[in-house]
Amino acid sequence: MKFQRRTLFAALAAASLTTAWPLTGFAQKKIVLGFSQIGAESEWRTANTESIKAAAKEAGIELKFSDAQQKQENQIKAIRSFIAQKVDVIAFSPVVESGWDTVLREAKAAKIPVILTDRAVDSKDTSLYVTFMGSDFIEEGRKAGRWLVEKVKGKTGDVNVVELQGTVGSAPAIDRKKGFEEAIKADPRIKIIRSQTGDFTRAKGKEVMEAFLKAEGKKINVLYAHNDDMAIGAIQAIEEAGMKPSKDITIISIDAVKGAFEAMMAGKLDVTVECSPLLGPQLMSATKDLVAGKSLPKRIVTEETIFPMEVAAREFPKRKY
Ligand code: AHR
Repeated sequence: MKFQRRTLFAALAAASLTTAWPLTGFAQKKIVLGFSQIGAESEWRTANTESIKAAAKEAGIELKFSDAQQKQENQIKAIRSFIAQKVDVIAFSPVVESGWDTVLREAKAAKIPVILTDRAVDSKDTSLYVTFMGSDFIEEGRKAGRWLVEKVKGKTGDVNVVELQGTVGSAPAIDRKKGFEEAIKADPRIKIIRSQTGDFTRAKGKEVMEAFLKAEGKKINVLYAHNDDMAIGAIQAIEEAGMKPSKDITIISIDAVKGAFEAMMAGKLDVTVECSPLLGPQLMSATKDLVAGKSLPKRIVTEETIFPMEVAAREFPKRKY
């Protein structure tokens, strides 16, 4: 892809070579990055927004930030507005996987490179974005499933799991389900008896867990929540139903936000799989690289781990989100 800015830099570089003028003598225009965020549905998302805003400031990049309030139509509007404003780079975290091709083609036609952060799109035409940086959600689901397989090893009886899924149609909801289901195949006693969306929020997590408890009661052995916020909401529902989280129902979730560590230290959550929201510095360096005409790998995967309850107190002081 050719960008006007790159042409300008090339011309300036050539001028500096022939005339020995230092490039610093020119007032360089600030790089402008348009970023469309999903919303503020979880502790994770808030940390992600803070990371992006702080990193933009630190990198001297002008950030045009737009909050879509969890609506795809708002993200599409924001991207169109970034195109109209001729930003240098567009980045966004797509609320759902499908339905982006038209607007991404518009960005491509305007020669504005697009970076996907955190979540993927399912577009067949991968030339519509330059890179996708973020977690491997299938692997996160596998980590959660493998942990459960190990936990029940050597024990007898059925293992009935209720699952709180993330936003319907979103990459983390699809992939975390897939990875978990794949891993629990190792033990045929583990069965998902109910599965419903809690939209990644505490309020919905609580509401859906109440319904699960009403329908299945003491049959539930395990809760697998696609994020910590839903698990924290569900913990409230379990306590209000007179049961003990972690003792009566094993609780597994994903993100590793501070709230999950607090729940683990209180003995109410068994394990959380890490999903880092701290993508800001990586996004700013990718933005600078693109503007400088460098190419980027198509996929940049975040390195992550898993935190069981036993290590929570030791790890808590080191947590950044
Ligand atoms: O896309 C990442 C997911 O979105 C996080 O796991 C969840 O908490 C957030 O809302």
